[in-house]
Amino acid sequence: MRKHIIAGNWKMNKNFSEADDLLNDLMEQLENVKLPRETQVIVCPPFPFLEMASDYANDSYFLVGAQNVSDKESGAYTGEVSAEMLASCEIDCCIVGHSERRSYYGETNAIVAAKVDQLLKHDLMPIMCCGEVLAEREANRQFDVVKSQIEEGLFHLSADDIKRVVIAYEPVWAIGTGRTATPEQAQEMHHYIRTLLAEKYGSAVADEISILYGGSCKPSNAKELFANPDVDGGLIGGASLKADDFMGIVTA
Ligand code: PGA
Repeated sequence: MRKHIIAGNWKMNKNFSEADDLLNDLMEQLENVKLPRETQVIVCPPFPFLEMASDYANDSYFLVGAQNVSDKESGAYTGEVSAEMLASCEIDCCIVGHSERRSYYGETNAIVAAKVDQLLKHDLMPIMCCGEVLAEREANRQFDVVKSQIEEGLFHLSADDIKRVVIAYEPVWAIGTGRTATPEQAQEMHHYIRTLLAEKYGSAVADEISILYGGSCKPSNAKELFANPDVDGGLIGGASLKADDFMGIVTA
């Protein structure tokens, strides 16, 4: 059975003491809920707070992920953080290909593919994001866009390696806008992604890969979205910044 995952993407928010407060609140709430075994909570704070998050997670309550990683192994790349560094600090996973990285920092599908390779090489789980912008959806091009992001970002992997990847479908028009995809739109795209995976790797492999939804997911719409057969959880931005909201989604 594939994992059901709720990952919080804090983006560039919180200072040290605010991060400490949020992690503390989250821990208190996680200690008091009994989650099904297949549910995995992930927290992705900014780099300076990864160690703090790891200390809180204490190898049991949640996994800790970074929001970005270098596509290079090591060397003279000022400001970059390598997958090996993350692995050596016991970080579990990392977001790649987020639409904000694609649009503000020029992250192409080729760069995403190289980052995925770095992460897998050092045993970190990539959470690979894909999704179309509004103009692409309005032109009914969303399937083509997502297809090339998946093919160019992931399809160089072996079947064994792609099983170590989590995919997040995040329609860009829904990120931080308050405008969520309908449960039907989410299921339609998630099913399409799983079909692409099945055509390339076979349905047994496709069935093992968790596909998360992201984009204005909140406690009030999470249940409806997650009720779909191909929606295996969520990548949560704004609503991951308050413990009550995030836990409202986790328990949905
Ligand atoms: P949002 O962001 O939940 O604030 O829409 C989701 C994301 O960008 O991962």
